[in-house]
Amino acid sequence: MRKYDFEKQMQATSYYNKFSRVYDILSPKFYYHKARSEAIRELRLIKEKSVLNVPVGTGQNFEYFQRYLKNSGLIVGVDISSGMLNKAQVKIDRNQWTNIKLLNQDVINLENTLKNELFKENNLEGFDAVFCDLGLSGFPHWKKIIDVLLSMLSENGRIAIMDWYIEKPSLRGTLVKWIGKGEVNRPIWQYLKVNVNDFKVDSSFNYGGVFVASGTKK
Ligand SMILES: C[S@@+](CC[C@H](N)C(=O)[O-])C[C@H]1O[C@@H](n2cnc3c(N)ncnc32)[C@H](O)[C@@H]1O
Repeated sequence: MRKYDFEKQMQATSYYNKFSRVYDILSPKFYYHKARSEAIRELRLIKEKSVLNVPVGTGQNFEYFQRYLKNSGLIVGVDISSGMLNKAQVKIDRNQWTNIKLLNQDVINLENTLKNELFKENNLEGFDAVFCDLGLSGFPHWKKIIDVLLSMLSENGRIAIMDWYIEKPSLRGTLVKWIGKGEVNRPIWQYLKVNVNDFKVDSSFNYGGVFVASGTKK
């Protein structure tokens, strides 16, 4: 990674370590409920399937995944912030879920060693599904990360992305950027569109600010 990106990531990690204390209060479950439900429905999970969630944050998606997996199969959650992961671990312990693994890693590491380790350790040729929520708006090299996430999928694996897209500068966009420390005008779903089959997008969530895009590995 270039030095600038490394510093940016360090800042993001430090920010989210602090933010983790109040994340579930300031970004409550109901706020993204419709978008999350739709995105996770698009993953077409059933019992015993595997799903990779990047960035997993405080684990707000777990209960949505478990509706389909019912504590079977495998959920792997990756996040760079140990503070966010600690909160996710609390949810795991409280619910006594046994099918979730958390990894404190930079998503960029999925490109090489982490990807191979994950496949080997879990006897996988690829994940059945990948969910990336509120991550690509903040990751440096976001197009590269989409390529990497697609490479984590097994044949016919499903990917869903939930994120912000506000094309024109606005007060709301500025606020979202400030809170999330990311960008809101990256053409994320447009990039996904040309790289998957069965592409679908709905950009009507949260008054048109949040989109859910999905597709099947080519
Ligand atoms: C806005 S939160 C979203 C968390 C979760 N997906 C959700 O929807 O609640 C952004 C997350 O991205 C994580 N993050 C930022 N840069 C990352 C990176 N390079 N690799 C992995 N996680 C990263 C942060 O630690 C934070 O947990």
